[in-house]
Amino acid sequence: MTIHIGAEPGQIAETVLMPGDPYRARWAAETFLEGAKLVNEVRGMLGFTGTYKGERVTIQGSGMGMPSLSIYANELISTYGAQTLIRIGSCGGMQPHVAVRDVIIAMSASTITSPSSAIFREFNFAPTAHFGLLAAAVAAADSKGIRSHVGGIYSSDVFYAERSDLDEQMVRHGILGVEMEAAELYTLAARHGRRALAVLTVSDHLQTGEALPAQDREQTFGDMVEIALEAAFA
Ligand code: HPA
Repeated sequence: MTIHIGAEPGQIAETVLMPGDPYRARWAAETFLEGAKLVNEVRGMLGFTGTYKGERVTIQGSGMGMPSLSIYANELISTYGAQTLIRIGSCGGMQPHVAVRDVIIAMSASTITSPSSAIFREFNFAPTAHFGLLAAAVAAADSKGIRSHVGGIYSSDVFYAERSDLDEQMVRHGILGVEMEAAELYTLAARHGRRALAVLTVSDHLQTGEALPAQDREQTFGDMVEIALEAAFA
């Protein structure tokens, strides 16, 4: 047990999918895993362990934002020995060719700050996905006929951003979408020699203002979970 995860040692798999929303963790576990069992409910941040095609998988909520994800990822890595950590979540689209419902497979995640900024000080570390996972996720999306984009995203500290000038620069530099967790996940994986990736569904678009209707979220979320599971065991 850790401060924030109540699972016994051995109850967490080496492969962990991390949605922001704990209820999404439950939905994904019930939908895609066999024999899924609740292994954590501390603070309502649900985690489940089961199997996918015979392989053990944990789906553990991360909460929203890098500080929350950092708590769960640190404990999963250091106490439970997680080797592969894949964020599954939503993001805001930032490019005209990126549509709502599309999947973004994040090669890199830029930030202004992250929980790791304090250790890097003046150094601008480039948080980067694990290449093998990234390539496997692209192959899984292609084989399922799911439209995906691969490139850089932005991990923000705020959902309600007020820097339209910064958005302009990000769009100009090809950033595909914005979310709030991936950069810290990639940084922690690099620090501890683990594999990390973020597979994201575009749930809203910063340029068009379009947003995914609630009833469509489940299907597109399901595509993303399958891409992540296939990539983990490719
Ligand atoms: N901003 C930050 N995080 C997000 C967004 C957004 O527009 N959409 C989904 N996650």
